[in-house]
Amino acid sequence: MIVDTYNRVHDYLRISLTDRCNLRCFYCMPEESYDFAPMKHLMQAGEVESIARSFVDLGVNKIRLTGGEPMVRSDFGEIILRLAKLPVSLHITTNAILLDRYFDVLKEARIDTLNISLDTLSREKFIRLTRRDKFDVTIQNIRSSLKQGFRIKINMVVMRDFNEDELLDFVEWTKNEDLEVRFIEFMPFEGNKWTSNQVFSLEEILSTISGRYEVQAVAGSLHDTAKHYQIAGHKGSFSIISTMSAPFCDGCNRLRLTADGKMKNCLFSKDESDLLGALRKGLPVEPLIQQNILTKAAKLGGQFHSNFNELKQETLENRSMISIGG
Ligand code: 5AD
Ligand code: SF4
Repeated sequence: MIVDTYNRVHDYLRISLTDRCNLRCFYCMPEESYDFAPMKHLMQAGEVESIARSFVDLGVNKIRLTGGEPMVRSDFGEIILRLAKLPVSLHITTNAILLDRYFDVLKEARIDTLNISLDTLSREKFIRLTRRDKFDVTIQNIRSSLKQGFRIKINMVVMRDFNEDELLDFVEWTKNEDLEVRFIEFMPFEGNKWTSNQVFSLEEILSTISGRYEVQAVAGSLHDTAKHYQIAGHKGSFSIISTMSAPFCDGCNRLRLTADGKMKNCLFSKDESDLLGALRKGLPVEPLIQQNILTKAAKLGGQFHSNFNELKQETLENRSMISIGG
C-alpha cells in the first residue's frame, strides 16, 4: 500500500502522457515561451506500462490519463490498450478534438466515462481562450460521444470576467442532456497569470445557480474532489471542484506521474521523484514511490491554505499545469 504520514491510502494514479497539446489555453500554458519536453525525455509506451504496473503492485486500482492532450501522442491507442490489461479502472481527460478517432479503442479498453474540457459555449471566446479555432470540432465530438453512449463529464474552469456569465447556460445544457458539468475554481500555476480576484468561488457559483434553479446537494464520499448537486427535472447534473476556497485534501488518494516520468504526490508539491530515470538505469521504482509519499504535505503541497485571497502566484514553486498534467 502507498500510505502517507497522515494515514491516507493512495490508490489513484493520474498519468500525464505528454506536455504537448493542440490547444493553448491561457490558464494552463505560459503565454511567453514554453519549451516542450524533448521526446526522448518522455516515457515510451512500454515505460508507461511498466511504471503503472509498479503502482498497481502497490495498491493503485484507478488510473487516469491526462496531458497536455493525451490523444496527440501517436501511440495513444497502444498505451490505452496496454494499460487496459491491468486490474484498474481506466479513465481519460481530453479536449475532445481528436476523440472521434479513438471511439473504438476506448470501447475496446472498456472506458465508459470521458472527462472533456470545455470552458465556454461561445465560439469567439473559445478562440480567445485556446488561441486555436477548434470550437466546432470540439462540440461535434462531444455530441458524437454522447451518441456513442459514453458518459460525459464536462470540465469548465470558471474565471471571473471571462466565463462566469455562462454558468447558467452550462446548467441549462444539463436539462435535456444526461451529462455532468463540473465547475472548477481557477488555480494558480507557473506562468498562468492567476490572480486571486479571478477565482469565482464555490459559494459564488452556488449562489448564481440557486438564483435561477432549485438546487439540491447530493451526498458525496471521502475521495470526491467534486461536490455534487442536482436540479429537479434535469437529466444531467452539476458539481463544483473547490480547490481554492474549500480544498478536499483530507480525503486525498491521488498520485501523479508527469510525462517525463517524475512522481508528484500533490498537484502543488515541489518535490518530484525521477521514476523514469531509475527505470532506465534498471533500478526498482517501488522504493522511490514509498519514499516520495512520506513527504506528502497535509494540504495543497504545503504551499498555501484556503485563504487564497492573499496568495500571489509568483510565490508558488511549481510547474505550469501543462507540464504537470490536469
Ligand atoms: N485551474 C483549474 N483547472 C485547470 N485545468 C487546467 N488548468 C487549470 C487551472 N489553472 C483543468 C482543465 C482541464 C483539466 C485537465 O485541468 O479544466 O479540464
Ligand atoms: Fe490543452 Fe487542456 Fe491545457 Fe487547454 S487546458 S492547453 S486543452 S492541456
